Amino acid sequence: MTEKKILFSKDDINSAVSRVAEKISEDYRGGELMMVCVLKGAFVFMSDLIRMIEGVDIFVDFVVLSSYGSSTTTSGEVKVLKDLHSPVEGKDVLVVEDIVDTGITLKFFKDQLLRRKPKSVKICALLDKKERREVEIELDYVGFSMQDGFVVGYGIDCDENYRNLPEIWVLKED
Ligand code: IMP
Ligand code: MG
Repeated sequence: MTEKKILFSKDDINSAVSRVAEKISEDYRGGELMMVCVLKGAFVFMSDLIRMIEGVDIFVDFVVLSSYGSSTTTSGEVKVLKDLHSPVEGKDVLVVEDIVDTGITLKFFKDQLLRRKPKSVKICALLDKKERREVEIELDYVGFSMQDGFVVGYGIDCDENYRNLPEIWVLKED
């Protein structure tokens, strides 16, 4: 049976998202920002985040990246299943992701983006599982750092379940 318990409450999430939004507002004040949501997991975070950013002209786009399978993949191959709609050349781009785990997915995507010659690319992740990193990737904005453990809710799934939960829960096998 799978049990779950709350790791981050609605209030925790609200404070973290508003702290990140404030920092982004400061860093891009008066400019334009193309925010790229990595579907599906980041869609709830993205929608809260954009509404808390002030003084920046925000544009949004969406990508779907394939997951590279499980566990032992260090050579992990990632594919772009749905690419950006708009060109990013010369633009400030902020990639919005739910969770950075091994880092393989985002490292791959950031390298792809950089080839299109944007003005800048930064990364914003709701959850950072730093200790599980297998490739180096700099995260510019982080909601929460966490240890190992599988989380769901607030857009994040386990086999497509639980995305609608307003809190972030940790699943416990027993
Ligand atoms: P990585 O950084 O390339 O290893 O992969 C990150 C992706 O793995 C995230 O975008 C999630 O889709 C998925 N993932 C990692 N940890 C979790 C978790 O705890 N719950 C749900 N998905 C996860
Ligand atoms: Mg994801």
